[in-house]
Amino acid sequence: MKRALSAIAVVAVICLVGSLAFAQDAANGEKTFKAKCVACHGADAAGKPAMKSPSIKGKTADDIQKVISTSAKHASLKSLKADEVKELAAYLATLK
Ligand code: HEC
Repeated sequence: MKRALSAIAVVAVICLVGSLAFAQDAANGEKTFKAKCVACHGADAAGKPAMKSPSIKGKTADDIQKVISTSAKHASLKSLKADEVKELAAYLATLK
């Protein structure tokens, strides 16, 4: 019984650390988003018809990486690091 309880405690701690790490990623991603994406995709990432930019809510790191490497509109974003892309995706996942 004691063992089961400590196993549960270990899992709980792992989950807590995991969700804190995700929250930190999302907070960093929000900063990058506000600095580099807001102008075209809008404050809530819903897209701007005037800029012909789509909503990017919930886009994954793969989606972002792909657009950065293929779209001329995103040529200035090629310097984003893999970590920054991951953080952006964590932030976009919080927007629904
Ligand atoms: C200069 C304006 C501009 C900026 C800055 C910009 N985007 Fe975009 N984005 C667009 C446009 C326009 C499209 C539509 C497809 C295209 O032209 O590439 C697009 C498409 C996308 C798509 C693909 C969406 C889909 O449905 O296929 C993603 C993902 C994306 N942008 C992410 C980002 C992220 C993340 C940033 C900031 C790091 C960013 N964009 C900054 C204009 C911009």
